[in-house]
Amino acid sequence: MVKFSEKLPKNFPLLRMRRNRMRTFSRKIVAENNLNVDNLIQPLFVTEGKNENTFIESMPGIKRHSIDSIVNEAKEIESLGIPAIAIFPNINNKLKDAIGSEALNENNIICKTIKAIKKECPNLGLICDVALDPYTDHGHDGIIHNNEVDNDETIKILCEQAIVQAKAGCDIIAPSDMMDGRVKKIRTALDSHNFINTIILAYSSKYASAFYGPFRNAVGSKINQSKISKNSYQMDPSNSREAMREIELDINEGADIILIKPAISYLDIIKSAYENYNVPIFAYQVSGEYSMIKAAANNNWVNEKDTVYESLISIKRAGATSILTYFAKSVAKNLKEGLYN
Ligand code: PBG
Repeated sequence: MVKFSEKLPKNFPLLRMRRNRMRTFSRKIVAENNLNVDNLIQPLFVTEGKNENTFIESMPGIKRHSIDSIVNEAKEIESLGIPAIAIFPNINNKLKDAIGSEALNENNIICKTIKAIKKECPNLGLICDVALDPYTDHGHDGIIHNNEVDNDETIKILCEQAIVQAKAGCDIIAPSDMMDGRVKKIRTALDSHNFINTIILAYSSKYASAFYGPFRNAVGSKINQSKISKNSYQMDPSNSREAMREIELDINEGADIILIKPAISYLDIIKSAYENYNVPIFAYQVSGEYSMIKAAANNNWVNEKDTVYESLISIKRAGATSILTYFAKSVAKNLKEGLYN
């Protein structure tokens, strides 16, 4: 046996980085970031029907709710301390058309849902997308003219959609359409209808992402117009400097909060946004990010609780103020039970 003979000085090494990590309490007091229920937003899906909640195949554990069921879900979410939800409609195919007319129906499912939830949970923040994809038969976020999604014509409809939703009681209007110039037009439209306190959460850097796949299945917004691609309005994943231009534009047009989406593959964008702009920055951990973790966890390939925590804390570390995540409810429960300690 070889004997190690060098005598190490007692104080070697002088600085031991492991000291702070050795005990639970010291890890806590040196932690630079924390997950807090205040910074979680739960996205929910709503559909026609009564007493229904069908599981979404592409998103294990996530349901499509009927209105009565989503109200109960909202109550539970509020009781867990989650401050806000984002509601997405699954529209009956019969109600879809080329211009997404149903989006402007003051009695559409989203408006009915907003009213029903507000009645039971007046203090729960409600976020609604402004975009036409759940309502168009071709699945695009706007209307099509001459084989392209027409920017300026689409914005006119989006302004009306924003007003319809604000009238129903929506607190935060979230344009997710990626049309140019829409934030300013929506702000002006809201103000002219006296919705001066309705917040605009702009999906500023929304990438053309394959990670939205399960969501399109959930809301039934699969693209049916193969000639046009969402690449013609959503951002190219190869670009980051362009994302800063998008964010700057939206801030200058009056966005109260900006959003980056997806999250995990775009941590660099969140970080740059944090370093460059003094606005609240939200990140959306999208359906594909959810389903990948869920699928692996359901196979016991990863530990769900720990993987989810790590993915969310990395989004916070990058600079996100709050996170839209399908895991919000389960994380809120785990936080309450102190399971992350
Ligand atoms: C569409 C919209 C999308 C998502 C939110 N709003 C998808 C798309 O652009 O097709 C995706 C959310 C998710 O994947 O969880 N306006």
